[in-house]
Amino acid sequence: MNSPAPLAPRLKKKPDFRDEARFIKNWIDKPLIIGAVSPSGKALAKMMAAPIDPELPGQVLEIGPGTGPVTAALIARGVDEARLVLLEFNPDFVTLLRQRFPRATVLQGDAYDVRGLAEGVLTGPLAGIVSSLPLLTKPVPRRARLLNDCFDLAHPGAPFVQFTYMVQPPIPVFAIGEAVATGSPRIWRNVPPARVWTYRRQVTA
Ligand SMILES: C[S@@+](CC[C@H](N)C(=O)[O-])C[C@H]1O[C@@H](n2cnc3c(N)ncnc32)[C@H](O)[C@@H]1O
Repeated sequence: MNSPAPLAPRLKKKPDFRDEARFIKNWIDKPLIIGAVSPSGKALAKMMAAPIDPELPGQVLEIGPGTGPVTAALIARGVDEARLVLLEFNPDFVTLLRQRFPRATVLQGDAYDVRGLAEGVLTGPLAGIVSSLPLLTKPVPRRARLLNDCFDLAHPGAPFVQFTYMVQPPIPVFAIGEAVATGSPRIWRNVPPARVWTYRRQVTA
């Protein structure tokens, strides 16, 4: 008999310590890729989902979904699971995400190749992009290129959302050209405390 699929985070009443264990194991193996020792808490995940407008048509791309706390927050925000495209590098997390979010499109690959990976998967302009990538491990021009690649795949003015544990924006404003960046208050309830930055390309009339 097949073992039951692990419960999606949205269905759990208590934190799943197996997710914490998965994170720690991956952090020991590849600290620069995982970028955190534990999954995002509920308050941070909710803040990450907040800039996404569920009424705006199109798919929503999540990059670096890990075990899925932000994915669950996007669904709780009203984004239908079938509209989600989840792009994750880690094959173990990919397997878990496919079990937890069977109606989402789950891609395994490197988000910095988003243009190639999205080809044939996206049905039109994205309604938004939500990223948990450990961006600070990459040089600033590489981060800015990822931002622009994502903007090119999205509706004009659609948000690119990214969290950081740092004080400064994870993609510095000097590198984002005409785009604008707004930062949330620090989310003290997350461990470690984090801020969410929302980037948008300005829409010219
Ligand atoms: C800090 S964790 C965040 C996971 C989850 N979103 C959360 O908030 O708990 C970063 C995630 O990004 C993934 N990741 C790192 N580099 C990546 C890349 N280049 N392409 C796709 N995923 C990547 C890691 O495997 C990990 O799942």
